[in-house]
Amino acid sequence: MNIRLYQESDAKSVSYLWNQVFPDNPSHNAPRLVITKKLKVQPLFFVAEKDSAIGHEGTALRAIVGTIMAGYDGHRGWLYTVAVTPQHRRQGIGSKLVQHAESALIAMGCPKINLQVRASNAEVVAFYKKLGYFTEERITHGKTSQIACWSVLEYLPLPSKLTDVPV
Ligand SMILES: CC(C)(COP(=O)(O)OP(=O)(O)OC[C@H]1O[C@@H](n2cnc3c(N)ncnc32)[C@H](O)[C@@H]1OP(=O)(O)O)[C@@H](O)C(=O)NCCC(=O)NCCS
Repeated sequence: MNIRLYQESDAKSVSYLWNQVFPDNPSHNAPRLVITKKLKVQPLFFVAEKDSAIGHEGTALRAIVGTIMAGYDGHRGWLYTVAVTPQHRRQGIGSKLVQHAESALIAMGCPKINLQVRASNAEVVAFYKKLGYFTEERITHGKTSQIACWSVLEYLPLPSKLTDVPV
């Protein structure tokens, strides 16, 4: 298993993985939109890949089995989209992805790393606890900006004719 920076040729595999792992994501989290916006700001987006088969010329064909995005704003580091394909779980891939992203953030001078877990996602709490993350007494507030809506519109293909506009 190898962890490396995301590259454009991974887009299809990563979209497939996220749609499988985060099926109820809102439209402003559409995979290709998230990836495009993330890479405009910081390249801290890693994928785990594994040999999946041997190709015609004897070279290994590799499959994306996990992802993690990290961000550092100069004050705190954040982890997002930690995901491993269901068939590759409990093999240490999620842990290695988190540790890889942590090393990248620490190398940038990041003093503390935060992450959010949906309250309904209790299982993942055990995963993060094993990696040294604990629930902190904080209340998370969020506000979705109008940019999110406009980004989704920008991302959608434009109708070819005015008559194609849904009413
Ligand atoms: C959370 C997730 C990334 C873990 O990936 P993984 O590769 O299976 O994790 P690891 O194999 O590194 O697990 C390390 C340890 O975490 C704990 N752990 C992992 N998954 C667990 C689960 N479902 N229930 C309880 N403990 C779990 C275990 O202690 C495990 O060690 P063990 O296998 O020796 O018992 C994966 O389950 C996943 O993609 N979940 C869906 C997406 C998601 O919810 N992401 C989090 C967004 S905040």
